[in-house]
Amino acid sequence: MALYEKFLDGVPWYLARHYWWAYLWKRSIWFFDHQPIINAILFGQYQKLMDATLARYQPQDGESALQLTCVYGKLTPSLARQTKHGLHIMDASLDQLALARRKCVDTPLFAARMDAECLAYASDVFDHVVLFFLLHEMPSEAREHTLSEMLRVIRSGGHFMITEYGPLPNRHWLYRFMPFRCLLGRLEPFLPGFWHEDLDEKLNLAAARHGKSVHRIEPSASIFSGFYRVVEYHVSDSD
Ligand SMILES: C[S@@+](CC[C@H](N)C(=O)[O-])C[C@H]1O[C@@H](n2cnc3c(N)ncnc32)[C@H](O)[C@@H]1O
Repeated sequence: MALYEKFLDGVPWYLARHYWWAYLWKRSIWFFDHQPIINAILFGQYQKLMDATLARYQPQDGESALQLTCVYGKLTPSLARQTKHGLHIMDASLDQLALARRKCVDTPLFAARMDAECLAYASDVFDHVVLFFLLHEMPSEAREHTLSEMLRVIRSGGHFMITEYGPLPNRHWLYRFMPFRCLLGRLEPFLPGFWHEDLDEKLNLAAARHGKSVHRIEPSASIFSGFYRVVEYHVSDSD
């Protein structure tokens, strides 16, 4: 039995196979949830990415919000503080959900275990959805299902935000440094595929499936010379 199979308790196969060491192993959860470690993984850009995400997250009274999967660091409590009626959060990992709950003792948080590819929420229920560094960790098919599910649960008139790696950074000094590119490709096996995908095109296809369309709200944030991006979209009924 391969080591990763020990982590296959109802989580997506790719999560157990490629990321058990990052999100499912209890020791790694403790290790990675330290600010200096998170900051190092994001080349010192964590605060900028958080700030750009939070600046675009402005739920109004009575609006509902979902963070699509847990993240390390202080994003979840920050989002929860900005959400008057309680932030919803979901993840495939119970340990990640427990960690998120521990960080939000003073703010309402509705945490539920589910698969991002098949959300157990009704259609058109959220006004805001936040995706923080999830898509690049998914195989292309899972990414497609997740975007489709996100566009199903977000109502027309709602907003969503994607904080992620930027489009293929073939001019960035980090990308041009081959040993780094190889290492990153090993640690993040689905990132090269994500780099080559047109995110707006995928979003438009996903939205059309639910009779909706998406419009990017400019300006987007380009961080670390475009290596990362924070993009906000508005959802409406199909044009
Ligand atoms: C949001 S991503 C990356 C987060 C980022 N590296 C960070 O911590 O800032 C990691 C989370 O996504 C979850 N996850 C990945 N695929 C999932 C899926 N299909 N359904 C639910 N949760 C998923 C993992 O369990 C993990 O908690």
